[in-house]
Amino acid sequence: MSEHRTWGGTIRKLWPKETTKFRDHLLRLDKDSRRMRFAHGVSDSFIEDYAARMGDMGSIVYAYVLDGEVRGAAELKKLGDTWGKEAEAAFSVEVAYQEHGVGTELMGRVIRAARNRSVQQLYMSCLAENAKMQTIARKHEAALRFEFGDVVGEIVPQGPNYFSIMAEAMDDRAGYLMAVLDLQTRVAKAA
Ligand SMILES: CC(C)(COP(=O)(O)OP(=O)(O)OC[C@H]1O[C@@H](n2cnc3c(N)ncnc32)[C@H](O)[C@@H]1OP(=O)(O)O)[C@@H](O)C(=O)NCCC(=O)NCCS
Repeated sequence: MSEHRTWGGTIRKLWPKETTKFRDHLLRLDKDSRRMRFAHGVSDSFIEDYAARMGDMGSIVYAYVLDGEVRGAAELKKLGDTWGKEAEAAFSVEVAYQEHGVGTELMGRVIRAARNRSVQQLYMSCLAENAKMQTIARKHEAALRFEFGDVVGEIVPQGPNYFSIMAEAMDDRAGYLMAVLDLQTRVAKAA
């Protein structure tokens, strides 16, 4: 789970200033993916507000970035003002990039980030019909429990250790370098 360049792109944390890339990714989700992601249909303006609040909420967003565009994202969200025992996770991958292992890779990053913040329970609210999400959760040994037709995937990550903290820190350093390279490439192309 530590490789940084996959499928020609990069998986890295987004910076708070990259909310527009996150927004554009969510806006590109097709109708069905949007419904699966938010558990109901949402409008463009809902997504614009939601993405704008990404930085304010102190969420951690991992993204699959290809040619400067976010094509997949995983959010780890606090349930209160500070990181507590419980957190929520949500995932999205654009249709053209689905079923290539991006979602599985993103979930690995989110579980590690949760573990490093001593989160004990990670909730993923997804519709009962969301078989792909259940497959991915099972790959990460999630225990799923069913409630009122929805599926809540409850993952119990282990506590942090030296290696998990170092792995996230090294990942962040590589992600930073990839973001700078990406910016330089786009500036050079534009010139
Ligand atoms: C769910 C989602 C994030 C998965 O991303 P992804 O990049 O396609 O996921 P992966 O390729 O890593 O894994 C998908 C797995 O589901 C499997 N799968 C595909 N169709 C399936 C089905 N009908 N039933 C069961 N498993 C299925 C794939 O074979 C793959 O498993 P494998 O790697 O063992 O072959 C993506 O489909 C998505 O964004 N969906 C819309 C939004 C959403 O549902 N978000 C989750 C709610 S929070």
